[in-house]
Amino acid sequence: MNRRKLGSSGITVNSIGLGGMPMSIQGRPDRAQSIQTICAALDAGIDFIDTADVYCLDHSDIGHNEKLIAEGIKAWGGATPVIVATKGGMERPNAAWTTNGDPKHLKHACELSLVALNTDCIDLYQLHAPDDEVPFADSVGALRELKEMGKIQYVGLSNVSVDQIKEAQGIVEIVSVQNECNLYEREAFDEGVVAYCEKEGIAFLPYSPVGGFRRHKRTGRDALLQNIAERNKISPYQVALLWLLAKSSVIIPIPGASRPENARSSAEAMTLSLSAGNLSLLDQHHT
Ligand SMILES: NC(=O)c1ccc[n+]([C@@H]2O[C@H](COP(=O)([O-])OP(=O)(O)OC[C@H]3O[C@@H](n4cnc5c(N)ncnc54)[C@H](OP(=O)(O)O)[C@@H]3O)[C@@H](O)[C@H]2O)c1
Repeated sequence: MNRRKLGSSGITVNSIGLGGMPMSIQGRPDRAQSIQTICAALDAGIDFIDTADVYCLDHSDIGHNEKLIAEGIKAWGGATPVIVATKGGMERPNAAWTTNGDPKHLKHACELSLVALNTDCIDLYQLHAPDDEVPFADSVGALRELKEMGKIQYVGLSNVSVDQIKEAQGIVEIVSVQNECNLYEREAFDEGVVAYCEKEGIAFLPYSPVGGFRRHKRTGRDALLQNIAERNKISPYQVALLWLLAKSSVIIPIPGASRPENARSSAEAMTLSLSAGNLSLLDQHHT
């Protein structure tokens, strides 16, 4: 398997992770299907799972996905360690998505995540998004305190700019950055976030890597992706993941799944590659 570094943490994981969100938000499958999906991903070699306290239906359901991930890993029962990354810094009042980067909120949210994940220390805790109402340094400072207290092992960021990564690095070691990034949404490349992560040895975790939870069908329908997929006897979704994997060795895509077959198909991309010619066609593919 193609292993990649989780930044400077010393941890390595296989090159494709699993995104837990589709198993816990609106339209989610039943518990049994979710557990099967998690087990299928782990059976296929995935050893890194991304979740968040707010992957749930609303405030009363906080921690739904974290509990599911913990349950799925236990049900799987494999011998290899699974690294779990969760996030704090958002809320779900009346099913809306709002930011809350208040240090008090982050510390409380982390305690709830520890319980939901049934662990004493979270492998990777990510600030879900900067909060315009709270100084960014205060939110990151809370994560540093959680690390010092031994509640979390490593700190990551999400939905951030290069300047915010630099500011956070002045406060605590940052091992990962998670921003939206796929064939259709290339800001992370265009605005230098991926290049900066590469320079600093920070893992870059593209979210919505196959087009996004609500918009992923465009990947399946894309004529160029279909054509490359057919010629390589793979799926258009795998083509989308292979393009990301080839862009940089710091990239670890985290495709979401709520069906076992999709988790398996994404995991299979770890063993595949595309020719330079195909990658160049995808680079030029502006939609
Ligand atoms: N930090 C943030 O602000 C943020 C925001 C959004 C997402 N995320 C994280 O990033 C993860 C991925 O993003 P996402 O879930 O929005 O979008 P995505 O991974 O681009 O798309 C997910 C959807 O694509 C389908 N899919 C995935 N792999 C497939 C394959 N190989 N073949 C066919 N269909 C496939 C799945 O369908 P089925 O459900 O039918 O299996 C899934 O619902 C999330 O799960 C979450 O962990 C983070």
